[in-house]
Amino acid sequence: MAAPPIPIAKQKAIRKLHAQGLSHRAIGRKLGIDHTLCVDYLHKPETAPKTPEEMEAKIRKDLRRGPMSPDELGEGLGAGPGAVRKLLAGMKARGVLLVEHPNGLFEMASTVNLAPGVFELKAKPGVQQVYGVTGDNHLCSKYERLDVLNAAYDEFARSGVRHVFNTGNWIDGEARFNKTELLTPPGMDHQLDYMIRNYPARAGITTHYVAGDDHEGWYAQREGIEIGRYLESRAHAAGRKDLHYLGYAEADVMLKCGTGASVCRVVHPGGGSAYALSYTVQKLVESYQGGEKPHVLLAGHYHKAEYCYAREVHCLQTACTTDQSLFMRKKKLAAHVGFWKIWITQDTRGVITSFGQQFFPYYDRGFYERRYR
Ligand SMILES: [Fe+2]
Repeated sequence: MAAPPIPIAKQKAIRKLHAQGLSHRAIGRKLGIDHTLCVDYLHKPETAPKTPEEMEAKIRKDLRRGPMSPDELGEGLGAGPGAVRKLLAGMKARGVLLVEHPNGLFEMASTVNLAPGVFELKAKPGVQQVYGVTGDNHLCSKYERLDVLNAAYDEFARSGVRHVFNTGNWIDGEARFNKTELLTPPGMDHQLDYMIRNYPARAGITTHYVAGDDHEGWYAQREGIEIGRYLESRAHAAGRKDLHYLGYAEADVMLKCGTGASVCRVVHPGGGSAYALSYTVQKLVESYQGGEKPHVLLAGHYHKAEYCYAREVHCLQTACTTDQSLFMRKKKLAAHVGFWKIWITQDTRGVITSFGQQFFPYYDRGFYERRYR
């Protein structure tokens, strides 16, 4: 377990005794603390963090060292356990990956602890429902294709689409190899604010998205935050209620109809592309056990457009709205730029009786700039 932070009063005593010429060991003995901590606290600011942001940063830092109770956290903040619990609840609501153990200790969790999301949509028996599908938008990258993404939402609005599924990688995130390709300054909030300003919004359309385990997921892993939930709360604060977070990497949308339901799984799988277009998605479907197979599988990540019917699952690779990056070019990975509309009809038991799909292909930005014949 991590050593609890030293209370503010004791930190002041360390400085006072140090000014009187006492050695670290003598201070440690006098105050009943490890002498190595004296060195730490002598170089820290005297005052406790004051703003909620400073307090949150301190909590994150303390919890990264190991599990701690609200009392212990409060000692380092100059705050009572009630105030700390309030801060922790606020952090959790914004998506900070905190877990409370049965013994009342809190700890920072990892993205692997996140359970897949579940959500419900209702349909009427025998009535064809149309949904929009997109993914791998990679906003904030200079390769983003906002022209295609806006065309997608124009098409969805024209067709009466009310629900769009997004399979993740809505932003490019930050890694060592994409720093020179970004349109935004460094920092997670800059990318999320860019997305909130630029991701298409159309009246009556809600976008239900999963977060990828890469790109936006890099922030989730580094910052200890459930990035999709954080985006949703930040978008709500900015007045956008049309962005709805489904889950991290995988979510099941229950398409309820009549007395039953069919499952539409929205996923952002991992791994690289395979030689054959359909291989990765087929293997994904094969990996599901009989009872956990969805009826529809919408898969992002590979930047490919494909429909196949494997093990009675309607599988769709959701393409991308980003041009081929240098990274992809080097790995000889093709980018299928475009988006989909799908039609689903269900019977009174929720069983899918018809499934239709339409792909809208787009080409390299250069094609539209007439650089190629
Ligand atoms: Fe991607």
